[in-house]
Parts: sequence; C-alpha cells; structure tokens
Amino acid sequence: MIKTDVSDSFLTLLINSILRICIVKDKLLVEFPDSIETKKLIIRKYEKGDGADVLALFDRNNNRTLLQERVDEAAGIITQDDAEIDCRKHTAEWEARERFVMGIWSKSSGRYIGQIWIEPKKWEVPSFELGYFLDIECHGKGLATEASEGALRFLFNELEAYRVEIITRDTNEKSWKLAERLGFEKEGHIRECGIQNGERWGLYHYGMLKREYLFRNEGHRT
Ligand SMILES: CC(C)(COP(=O)(O)OP(=O)(O)OC[C@H]1O[C@@H](n2cnc3c(N)ncnc32)[C@H](O)[C@@H]1OP(=O)(O)O)[C@@H](O)C(=O)NCCC(=O)NCCS
Repeated sequence: MIKTDVSDSFLTLLINSILRICIVKDKLLVEFPDSIETKKLIIRKYEKGDGADVLALFDRNNNRTLLQERVDEAAGIITQDDAEIDCRKHTAEWEARERFVMGIWSKSSGRYIGQIWIEPKKWEVPSFELGYFLDIECHGKGLATEASEGALRFLFNELEAYRVEIITRDTNEKSWKLAERLGFEKEGHIRECGIQNGERWGLYHYGMLKREYLFRNEGHRT
C-alpha cells in the first residue's frame, strides 16, 4: 500500500516535471525583447502606423523594382493601406511567434531603411531562417551586415537558436556575399530550380550553428 503511494507520487512528480518542461518550452511563453540596438541602427517589431515609412521606402530610389524581384511579399505593397496591413500582419505574427519581422531605422537620420525577417523552421531544434533588405541608397556601407549581426545576437542569445539558415538565389551576389561576410557556411546549392524573365536561377543554402557563432563572436566554444 505504502509502496503504491510512493510510486504514485513519484509518477505524479515525473508527469508534472515533464508537463512543466513542455509548458516552459511552448513558443508562446518564450519572452524576449522586441527591439535590437546596434551602433547605427534600431531594429524593432513593427507597430501601428509604420505603414507610411514602409510605403515611402518602396516609392523611393527604385526600391519597388529591386524588391519585387527578390522579396516575395514586396509585389503586393502599392498603397499606404497595403503597407499598413503588412505591418499589422507582422505585429500579429510576432505575437503568435509565427515570424519575427522587424523594421530597420537609422539612428542618425531616424529614417526607415530596411527590414530583417526571422522565420522559425523547427522550434524543437530550434532553427530559424534569416532574411533582409535595405533601401538602395543605403547599400555598400555595411549596414545590412550590422543589422544582420544584431539579428544573429537576437537569434542565438534571445531566441536560443541552435541553427540559423540563409537561403538566397545564386544570382543575388550581394545577398550571398553578405551571408559569407557574416560567417555562414555554404551547405548546398540547388541548381537552376527557378526562372524569372527567362533567366534561370538556383538557391544557395547557408547555415550557422550556435557553436560557430560563439566561436566567431566570443572566441569560445560551447
Ligand atoms: C542583400 C542586401 C541587403 C545587401 O546589401 P549590401 O549593401 O551589399 O550589404 P552591406 O550593407 O552589409 O554592405 C556591404 C558592402 O559595403 C562595404 N562596406 C563598407 N563598410 C562596411 C562595413 N563597415 N562593414 C561591412 N561592409 C562594409 C562592403 O565591402 C560591401 O561592399 P561590396 O558589396 O562591394 O563587397 C541588399 O543588396 C538588398 O537589400 N537587396 C535586395 C533584397 C534582397 O535581395 N534580399 C535578400 C533576399 S534572400
């Protein structure tokens, strides 16, 4: 009788512990900041009213043409309402932990200059995909590198990523050069899997593991 009580209570303890671990790991309970600060940039979750900044970026410097070819959702942003809806969708996705899409603002000018997006792939790993775009007038100054380094800090330290991926067209030299500048390992090349305006393109798959991030950024291994 006593034996049964002990094993019952042990079982209850075990079940409670497992449940607690499962609950703690639920993505909706994971707490993390909603902004990242780097030397020159503020990178943050979209808020109500950001649509005006987003539309202004698409409307200047021929950004719409550049982004339509490279960023899937860019083609649908024509009016301020489209942009505002897009921002509010990102806020909702953030709260549901479905995607973490953040705007990039320059600290010196206050101007909205681009976007970082983080897509969870497998929470149990945890693994994520990283993407980015920048206003054409801000290219070539290291700002995408700085924003991505901030995003990697957020991914590995706050989201506790084990693995981060960048998937980019092999024809998008600026993008794959950025992945390599950040220290990502080229893990694969899916050849000629797409076509646009008669031009065939493939995909480069890049990956970075947490131990590689730590080794590169903090000079030690896990
Ligand atoms: C991908 C993208 C963000 C890269 O922008 P970028 O300006 O090349 O990247 P950075 O801002 O990090 O700048 C790097 C360049 O600035 C130079 N640079 C100057 N100062 C620098 C610094 N402090 N640190 C790093 N690079 C610096 C680098 O040498 C590099 O020049 P290079 O391309 O001639 O070698 C941009 O091309 C873009 O928005 N493209 C459209 C969207 C897109 O394709 N997204 C990817 C979808 S997967």
